Amino acid sequence: MTGWSLVYDGFNPDQERLREALCTLGNGYFATRGAAAEAIADEIHYPGTYLAGGYNRLKTDLAGHIVENEDLVNLPNWLPLNFRIDETNWFSIRAIDVISYRQELNLQEGTLYRTFRFQDTQGRVTRFAERRFVHLGYQHLAGLEIRLTAENWSGPLYVQSALDGRVVNAGVKRYLALSSKHLECEESGSVGDEGLYLKVRTVQSDLRVAEAARTQFFSEGMPLTVERRLIQEPEFIAHECAMNVQEGRSLVIEKIVALYTSRDRGISECGFQAREAIARADRVEPLLESHRKRWDRLWQRCDIAMEDQHRSQHVLRLHVFHLLQTVSPNTIDLDVGVPARGLHGEAYRGHIFWDELFIFQFLNLRVPDITRALLRYRYRRLDQALFNAREAGFRGAMYPWQSGSDGREESQTLHLNPQSGRWAPDHSHLQRHVSSAIAYNVWQYYQVTGDWEFLSFYGGEMILEIARFWASHATYNQSLDRYEILKVMGPDEYHDQYPGAEEPGLNNNAYTNLMAVWVLCRAQEVLAMLADDCRTELREVLGITKEEVQLWEDISRKMRVVFHDKEIISQFEGYDQLEELDWERYRRKYGNIQRLDRILEAEGDTTNRYKLSKQADVLMLFFLFSSEELRELFKRLNYPFKYETIPQNIDYYLRRTSDGSSLSRMVHSWVTARSDREQAWKLFTEALDVDIADIQGGTTPEGIHLGAMAGTVDLIQRAHTGIEARGDMLFFNPCLPAELARLVLCIFYRGHSLAIEVTQDRLTVVSRVGRAQPIKIGVKKKVYRLKPGKALEVTL
Ligand code: BGC
Repeated sequence: MTGWSLVYDGFNPDQERLREALCTLGNGYFATRGAAAEAIADEIHYPGTYLAGGYNRLKTDLAGHIVENEDLVNLPNWLPLNFRIDETNWFSIRAIDVISYRQELNLQEGTLYRTFRFQDTQGRVTRFAERRFVHLGYQHLAGLEIRLTAENWSGPLYVQSALDGRVVNAGVKRYLALSSKHLECEESGSVGDEGLYLKVRTVQSDLRVAEAARTQFFSEGMPLTVERRLIQEPEFIAHECAMNVQEGRSLVIEKIVALYTSRDRGISECGFQAREAIARADRVEPLLESHRKRWDRLWQRCDIAMEDQHRSQHVLRLHVFHLLQTVSPNTIDLDVGVPARGLHGEAYRGHIFWDELFIFQFLNLRVPDITRALLRYRYRRLDQALFNAREAGFRGAMYPWQSGSDGREESQTLHLNPQSGRWAPDHSHLQRHVSSAIAYNVWQYYQVTGDWEFLSFYGGEMILEIARFWASHATYNQSLDRYEILKVMGPDEYHDQYPGAEEPGLNNNAYTNLMAVWVLCRAQEVLAMLADDCRTELREVLGITKEEVQLWEDISRKMRVVFHDKEIISQFEGYDQLEELDWERYRRKYGNIQRLDRILEAEGDTTNRYKLSKQADVLMLFFLFSSEELRELFKRLNYPFKYETIPQNIDYYLRRTSDGSSLSRMVHSWVTARSDREQAWKLFTEALDVDIADIQGGTTPEGIHLGAMAGTVDLIQRAHTGIEARGDMLFFNPCLPAELARLVLCIFYRGHSLAIEVTQDRLTVVSRVGRAQPIKIGVKKKVYRLKPGKALEVTL
């Protein structure tokens, strides 16, 4: 990374899929992997185009066992633009001598460049330069431009521009045994002289998707009339164009594409709309100009500047960039969630997990309207969550661990261990804590924005129904006079049942129980905050009785948390009975032991037997709550938990975590940020490498890890500034790592646009001129009032 660019020099087939994922271009409405325009899916390349919320379900018979999966569908490839010189073969990078090659993703402009020079078998040298965009403002438009220069030859040139609907979902090797053909072609044809279109439908969800492409040619700035031949095959449509090129001259090919679906608003029919759009669209240069302006505006809000930390700063920008390509201002009008792997590949099938927890905090302080839209995705699926709970024998709202189109549970029931080739049952749906994450997200959004309307109409309802779910899940243990939550899984996916147990699930996972307590408290707070008439209305609508609220209060004071070795919070009841793993032996034997689940399963063993974790579980508590909040929670529960034992707990679990999840290092860096700054910085720099260096060895090519990406940005944004929105106050408690001399960022808080600068010894907060009411800012036990147009400077 340099400055605003991710640059690759030289062509490297082994890295191509990783580059494709990291060079994806998108606008929150749709995204396209950075595959070469001439590439088709093969062992090296994987072009993929994904629509936000574009799902479809398919069934597969796995040796008599029918499994059904919902996938984010790979849509027709709009990129194909290839050429051949005279009658020889179509251009393939593997069939020529590459003289030079460079690929650059420009984050500031949202543009992908690819330039190379090559020599073919007949000694002809050609220069190729491509630029590409997916328009941030005109969300239905994308385009690519190729400039070909014949350096030492003249002669005929043939260009093929196509829309290819023969695609399937084949981007993840582990899923190859599963059904993958989601699309069928509805119609295709030409549009005027220069255009093509293709319309497909998803076979189960009946989503219609239309793409139209306009391909034009220019030489010396003038339009070039070319001979076109229409090629119409099943699910594929192309123009093959013939022309002559002259030595030293450049030929410019522009392909503008429009993508519409039957779900779009304000349209007639998607095919018609796509055809209209390419007829009206500008050429590449003006489109690029308006695209850049949109990015400029977004960067004004979302950038983060770290003095003297060039690489970290650049990687953080890459993370912000990919987040904003997955969810953008275009998302505000859509009914979509934020897929854990972006719109960048097919891993986890485009599903939505608790990873929102790591993503929304960044958005809350930058473009909170996006969070609101994403929370509305959850609200629209509240009925389904109520149904999920009922089906499982509970009350209230039980959100799915993996969510897709309609909010039913989309977690797979079987998963493949590529290391052993065996399919094993998947119990990850027992991660009921996902519902608490949703309540937490609602609350945090409200804390930052003060969006009372949202809380009273949507957010409050979700929090209350989630509280109701936990109250129905908790069982009373008379002998202990404590409530318990049984048969669930915590965030650590390496434990899904007790060794030798017949049934999945663990009891009293500390994270789950404490989050449930927190939700039960917030539910009561929401009710208390509402005006009398609103409270009565809401209680009547949801049928919440006095006794029910009393039960919430009771559970929130008597939930069970298990400890061992005196002061260590047990990940779950019985954790202390597990065996210690011989970490050194496994490290020696396997080197990389992040995926201990696969390693141990392949050995005929199981992670369930050991004191080990895939990722932060207990430590999530120190990530989400300040030490004061935790102290309050434990006090409420009447446990003698001492603040001073937090470092022991952190150390205990850090030593037993394999970092098999991309989220792990970022959370660990956060929880050590104040107690061990050196370690925290090391973990932060490792977390930065999750995607750019693909440190999990092959997962990024299947899609980026958005939780880790957004989380690392939020780590700098909040952990090191100590920004916390609580009640009607914005707190700061800066503690910069020694490596960081100065941090500059801009956040939005209750109508104020705040320019923040933090150095090792000074905090400056400037509220830009505006109309908002003054806000209260808390720094180190002092409270300041800040008006628009004023500045606050505090020596630390
Ligand atoms: C992690 C989960 C996470 C999911 C999606 C899994 O590997 O264990 O915590 O939600 O990936 O990112």
